[in-house]
Amino acid sequence: MAKIVVNGGKKLEGSVSVGGAKNATLPILAASIMSESPVNIINCPEISDVWNMVYILRYMGCGVAVEGTSITVDATKMSDHDMPEELSKEMRSSIFMLGPMLSRFKRARFTYPGGCEIGLRPIDLHLKGLSELNVKIEEAHGQIICNASDLTGNEIHLDYPSVGATENIMMAAVSAKGRTMIRNAAREPEVAELQKLLNAMGGRVRGAGTSSVLIEGTSPLHGVVHEVMPDRIVAGTYMVAAAITGGDIKIMNAIVDNQHAVISKLKEAGCTILPAGEKAVRVIGPERPKEMQMIETLPYPGFPTDMQAQFFALASVAEGTSIIVENVFESRFKHAAELSRMGASVKIKGRMAVIRGVSRLMGARVRVNDLRGGAALVLAGLRAEGETEIENAQLIDRGYENFAQSLAGLGAEIRKED
Ligand code: EPZ
Repeated sequence: MAKIVVNGGKKLEGSVSVGGAKNATLPILAASIMSESPVNIINCPEISDVWNMVYILRYMGCGVAVEGTSITVDATKMSDHDMPEELSKEMRSSIFMLGPMLSRFKRARFTYPGGCEIGLRPIDLHLKGLSELNVKIEEAHGQIICNASDLTGNEIHLDYPSVGATENIMMAAVSAKGRTMIRNAAREPEVAELQKLLNAMGGRVRGAGTSSVLIEGTSPLHGVVHEVMPDRIVAGTYMVAAAITGGDIKIMNAIVDNQHAVISKLKEAGCTILPAGEKAVRVIGPERPKEMQMIETLPYPGFPTDMQAQFFALASVAEGTSIIVENVFESRFKHAAELSRMGASVKIKGRMAVIRGVSRLMGARVRVNDLRGGAALVLAGLRAEGETEIENAQLIDRGYENFAQSLAGLGAEIRKED
């Protein structure tokens, strides 16, 4: 069990560089098994979710070479098409293997991936979309057995623009006979990134990043070298670090063009946002953040649910009252109780949080429940008076590379104890 200890009150200053996007790297690693020759993915983040996906690929018989942020997947010898139960349940990202395994082996056997701290995480939209590609799906005793011997393109309408369902259907459709149109597709930038990878491998995908994605079934895919886009959530988290400490941080590898919702709220909180070169942004935080009237999490390009906890922490020290509505996941306010222990004044009513900003938070012992909530507790500790001990901090390593170390490099008095 790792712990982060932070002594708050320091203004963070300097520059920090953001690594590759977790939520692009995971589906891309899964997609690599569809290639008849090795796929080299560079700028992968060095985080535990990626190492878990590497473990899954190796377990399924792939050769995977990891050299820092470069990962090469050779799936030519991959034999298995059954995802072991313990992998499906413990590693939610295993669900991204479903589409590629159907594409490659025309069969897959899975155990229902469990829920997690932020919600039940159902996969009904994945399965509905795949069945519309003529995948025969049997569900028995928690097992999902898929037969895709006659994968056929189709018109698919997603009831909800699910990121994972869009990506799984795209990856299966690449090997289907004929064309597939996905309507009400997720528009997240990571979906467009997956399209880029699939097309570089010989796929014919168009429209990703919009609500309609067209996939032409093609012949087998081939190897490629692909550089992963920067992580917009990690970049956004460092922007909030500047906002909550009244600091001045230059975030390198931040693509402003996919951060409009976050930047708009930072400006509402009183931050100054300055472009700082082609792929960098400078955020100068106010002495004390202003209230943010209403933050509603929505599918992209709306305000990202993965930034909700971080803005929750920012709102807890703002002048005035902010309202946050979490529309995407059903239980993503677990950080509220921990922030209250630090003195935050919060009322939760279902999916709505009413946060009356306090002039100061007090350091306390708090516990991480989930990845982004953990990052939010660190951000609150950066502002709080005195020492904050953040337990179960290894969960933060799922999505952030050396988070404490990077913050220390910006002047924070912070350490991680493994
Ligand atoms: C992806 O999860 C991200 N993870 C999540 O990031 C992110 O929060 C989410 O998209 C929304 O942007 C990865 O890409 C690895 P969804 P995903 O399917 O694909 C419901 C992080 O912190 N739903 O768009 O699971 C679901 O319950 C993580 O980096 C169904 O009902 O998200 C949720 O309420 C957290 N049926 C909503 O849709 C389904 O079949 C959004 O889920 C699928 C989803």
